[in-house]
Amino acid sequence: MPLKKLKKFQIKNICCIGAGYVGGPTMSVIAKYCPDITVNVVDINKDRINNWNGDFDKLPIFEPGLAKIVSDVRGKNLFFSCDVHKSIKEADIIFISVNTPIKSHGIGAGEASDLRWVESSAREISMHARDHTIVVEKSTLPVKTAEIIKSILESTKQNSDGKNNKITFSVLSNPEFLAEGTAINDLENPDRVLIGGEDKESIDLLREIYLRWVDEKKIITTNLWSSELSKLIANAFLAQRISSINSVSAICESTGADVEEVAKAVGTDTRIGIKFLKSGPGFGGSCFEKDILNLVYICKSLGLKEVASYWEGILKINDWQQDRIYKAVVDKLYGNISGKKIVILGFSFKANTNDTRNSPSIKISKKLLGEDATLVISDPKVAKNKILESLNIKNKDINFVNKISVEINIAKAIENSDAVLIMTEWEEYKNIDWKVLQHKMRKPAWVFDTRSIISVEKIQETNLNFWQLGNGEFN
Ligand code: NAD
Ligand code: UGA
Repeated sequence: MPLKKLKKFQIKNICCIGAGYVGGPTMSVIAKYCPDITVNVVDINKDRINNWNGDFDKLPIFEPGLAKIVSDVRGKNLFFSCDVHKSIKEADIIFISVNTPIKSHGIGAGEASDLRWVESSAREISMHARDHTIVVEKSTLPVKTAEIIKSILESTKQNSDGKNNKITFSVLSNPEFLAEGTAINDLENPDRVLIGGEDKESIDLLREIYLRWVDEKKIITTNLWSSELSKLIANAFLAQRISSINSVSAICESTGADVEEVAKAVGTDTRIGIKFLKSGPGFGGSCFEKDILNLVYICKSLGLKEVASYWEGILKINDWQQDRIYKAVVDKLYGNISGKKIVILGFSFKANTNDTRNSPSIKISKKLLGEDATLVISDPKVAKNKILESLNIKNKDINFVNKISVEINIAKAIENSDAVLIMTEWEEYKNIDWKVLQHKMRKPAWVFDTRSIISVEKIQETNLNFWQLGNGEFN
């Protein structure tokens, strides 16, 4: 809907539906740079909202730099609440930042995006918006979702009495590219901001928000469908690099090459680039897997079988990488880990976040438990209940409860253990004094480094057996 008649339309009030890993940090940064705009972040999850309104050191999301920004702007122009209707009513622009997981059942189960939360947000907006409203897709969505959103919003053009109402909407796509653990820096210094849409004036209004702190050269505008698709493709390309280097890590282990050296030699070619070439236990997190599955589903729906299987390969390598790490552990411990004590260092899917969604630690821990190992899990930021919840372990599940303990203190966790498996690249794990700690382990003791963060020279000064992912010298 062109805004010609709304030339003086100004953004004074923002509503963000969804106070999660994207909604919370993104709106905090917008509030920081737009003190004249009121930013309301709403969510149906009361606990989450209470935590956003609680102590700054217990915000629902751990993200370096976030607590400082929230403490500066909360209560001034940033507000968290469950009052979705009121916030929609007051808003000039609404960001939909809700979850878009993969469907668990029905058509497209295991591949297609479950859009129920996006649809319910659109319905809420259609019912409660009071005036012309710009609706922004912030969530990652299948290409063409804006059509669904528009159709729901358009359906309110007629009231139940058949009369046309005056509310108009403009739908934009503005996908988020932040990565957890570096979200604040990514938001404050983005590589680019992408805005897709049909209505130039609405695009300009959203652009003006970002222009408060982002260089105009970094703001890319496209049509709606390019913007929606680019987000899926960006994640697919990033994940593709990880699967590529992880496939190389296995070649290195069998040939005496070192994947760190290979990545450096390859990545210093500026056409290839050094970023995202770190081999590890496979990518985790809430998005790479689901976004590639969604891309695969889209390709299949379009009849592009070969394209679908190309992208599927990235996920296959990811699963295989996790599988072969687990098998290496069992193999080195004489093919039997029943009753052996294995310490898992790191449970978040990467360092500097408390997010465990799809963490490689989950999959590998479950496989080790399946071989009757006893696990001690340690993570500096993930709480015990979240670890057990992520492993789907209920208190009554006696089989597993006795086999898992959580211990944040590394020295205590390692006591009498047979093996230590480093799963997350937390800073504190890089500086472990193995010369001292080796004496706490049962011999022969093993250290498995899936993140290549341990100094080979230092570990060689100990009596520990050592396996390092992608390092042909230790396998
Ligand atoms: P999240 O699960 O942390 O947060 C989503 C929130 O939306 C939840 O708290 C949920 O209660 C709320 N919600 C759902 N329906 C609602 C409704 N109708 N009204 C009010 N609240 C509602 O998810 P997230 O990690 O923030 O991801 C959100 C979207 O952003 C996803 O599409 C994801 O793919 C995308 N994304 C995520 C990241 C990331 O790093 N996590 C980065 C870029 C993009
Ligand atoms: C990723 C993208 O980096 C973001 O741009 C995107 O916005 C986001 O997904 C999303 O759409 O949700 P995130 O998953 O938070 O961000 O974190 P990444 O840094 O991408 O790490 C993802 C996984 O890949 C982690 O498990 C990490 O350990 C692993 N990884 C990353 C590697 O194994 N090697 C690398 O070189 C980089």
